[in-house]
Amino acid sequence: MSQVKEFGPTGKNEVVSPELVTTLSAPAGRELIARAVSLLADGDELAALSALRREVEPDLAAAALTQARLRDKAAAKFGEDAPALLVLPDSLEQATRSEVAAARASTLRERGVRRIVEAGAGIGADTIALARAGIEVVALERDLVVAAVLRANIAALGLRDVVQAAAADAAAYVAELSPDIAVYADPARRSGGRRIFDPELAEPPLSWLVGLAERGHPVVAKISPSLSGEQVPPGWEAAWTSTPTSSGRSVVEASLWSPQLHRFARRAAVLPDLEITGVPDVELPVGDVSTYLYEPDGAVNQAELVGVLADATGGHLLAPRIGYLSAERAVDDLPAQRFAVIETLQYSAKRVARALAHYDAGDLVVKKRGLDLDPHRLRREWLGKLRSRSGPPLAVIVVRRTADTLAIIARPD
Ligand SMILES: C[S@@+](CC[C@H](N)C(=O)[O-])C[C@H]1O[C@@H](n2cnc3c(N)ncnc32)[C@H](O)[C@@H]1O
Repeated sequence: MSQVKEFGPTGKNEVVSPELVTTLSAPAGRELIARAVSLLADGDELAALSALRREVEPDLAAAALTQARLRDKAAAKFGEDAPALLVLPDSLEQATRSEVAAARASTLRERGVRRIVEAGAGIGADTIALARAGIEVVALERDLVVAAVLRANIAALGLRDVVQAAAADAAAYVAELSPDIAVYADPARRSGGRRIFDPELAEPPLSWLVGLAERGHPVVAKISPSLSGEQVPPGWEAAWTSTPTSSGRSVVEASLWSPQLHRFARRAAVLPDLEITGVPDVELPVGDVSTYLYEPDGAVNQAELVGVLADATGGHLLAPRIGYLSAERAVDDLPAQRFAVIETLQYSAKRVARALAHYDAGDLVVKKRGLDLDPHRLRREWLGKLRSRSGPPLAVIVVRRTADTLAIIARPD
């Protein structure tokens, strides 16, 4: 690959300077951060800061304390690597979770990518995953402080042999590259603390990445999970990824894969270990409630791959464009939550309350599709009317159809 022209040693970030990053990443700086972590364990930030300021300059004390304060958040993104890494608040917010980065890197490797240029590497979450998947990376970051942290992180994890991290503008570097080199970008989607949803306003913008693919580069772009099917450039593969979170599952990102790396029109990666692929749904069969209900994972819905689950279960939708499938068969290992149907009623809040009185539900989950209800209020109301709450948890799923509204009482299966 060509020579990277690095920016000069200037520039400031709201938290630290590149020089402070160098100081923090040296052994004495790491000891200082470790001390900040143990001082913070007492919960008194001011006392911790005063103690650190008795040892070192105020700037360095504040920077070490920031690292300590962000340690838990860093662990949520970087897992076991967190104690070895430096972070910056804004970059940490935008960093890819390690399991999501690892899944993408392994798909890139499976699709034959061995060298890649990362256009905007941030503090390195994707860089680390790419390198560990056996891909050589030129990781470019135009913010000098962020680039200093990136370099420190690559060095701390012993990845310098496979990663060339530099403070440079990716657009200028990629313009000189041979078009067989792959490019990955996770464009910055925040400006002045606000989120950007339009991929054209992100940096680098999607049109630049599409232009690179037109020149022949294999390109992968991480995109906001709100990406819709209409925004997918023709001939590109679109993937949505979901992960388990503390409050269930959520779709954490989408990604676009240029025609050179395309394998499927749509993909839903349901981490840790499920993936489905296919073409977007057109018109799916609609029918009545039968033995089981399947609620497809959010990534499957967004990828418009509900039809793949309908084929796998022999099921049908309960209403057009309502993402619940019903089927006779219980099929395991699908990216969907399955419910065993107990009873189906025409919906009214009173009727559901009366029906629930027959089952001593220990807890209730209330879900609704296609109508404006407050599931939290209904759950409280229905639970409040139950005399005994010793049984297993139940779900009430309220679905608006063309002619009527159903309430389905079911057991998570
Ligand atoms: C969303 S962050 C990358 C986060 C990274 N994937 C991670 O998981 O840690 C995007 C980064 O791209 C950088 N950036 C945007 N345009 C760039 C360009 N033309 N050249 C180099 N870096 C750029 C921004 O400064 C920002 O740090």
